[in-house]
Amino acid sequence: MVGSNQAIGIFDSGLGGLTVLSKAQQLLPNENFIYFGDTLRVPYGSRSKDELLCFARQIFNFLISKNVKAIVIACNTISATCLPEIKKEFDLPIVEVLSHGVFEALESGTNNLVVIATETTIKNGTHERMIREHHADLKLFTKACPKLVPLVEEGLWNTEAAYDAVDEYLHEFKSQNIDALLLGCTHYPLLADAIVKTLGQIKIIDPSVSTINKLKVILQENHLMNIEHSNPCHQFFISGATEKFDDKLNIILIGNYKSTCIEINKF
Ligand code: DGL
Repeated sequence: MVGSNQAIGIFDSGLGGLTVLSKAQQLLPNENFIYFGDTLRVPYGSRSKDELLCFARQIFNFLISKNVKAIVIACNTISATCLPEIKKEFDLPIVEVLSHGVFEALESGTNNLVVIATETTIKNGTHERMIREHHADLKLFTKACPKLVPLVEEGLWNTEAAYDAVDEYLHEFKSQNIDALLLGCTHYPLLADAIVKTLGQIKIIDPSVSTINKLKVILQENHLMNIEHSNPCHQFFISGATEKFDDKLNIILIGNYKSTCIEINKF
């Protein structure tokens, strides 16, 4: 039986999903969370669907073994490639960021949008297909930005290296009258300053809040909101070394958390 005080699982290839978890902590303050970051195998952004499906299945099974009541896929690359299979195979509430990014972009009233994401996400074309279904003549650009995730994983988001890399990918849009940019990767909110530096004050769409609001609705509908008001427990598991991860974890979430390393072959 599913109980309302069970944790919510949330995962990504590395620390990107922490940008989603930070919103979840604010919007669902009573909930317990179990985060998994696949820091040994990050980046996911240039991997094949077969590999990603194998990783996603392992992570789902791991989180389910921890007795979670719902899972947030805080990874656009997994959503873009594996969602139908995962939804068919796992019987618990699942929310994911990609579709919420598309809905927010459509609702924003943008006429001239750029979507930035990993290589695999862009190649897969899910954002573009979903946007075109609803808005056939929106001026739409997409751009794969493979250098950005490794920079963020290194904690280099407010550095010259990050500004240069963002500029390298986005300068071509300076003359395109872009009015909105959709963050199609959960690592990219950490690069918002660099994006504004290149493109100026355009609307930056980060789907984390609407994803978590959707989760909240699902929990309410299924009577799964945690009604216990004790201190919520937030646990962090990663597949790589913990010390470097913990430094960044405690900057992004502003806390004093410690992660635990899980060996992938023990999944
Ligand atoms: N943060 C993930 C995403 O939203 C994965 C990035 C990566 O590992 O390349 O796609």
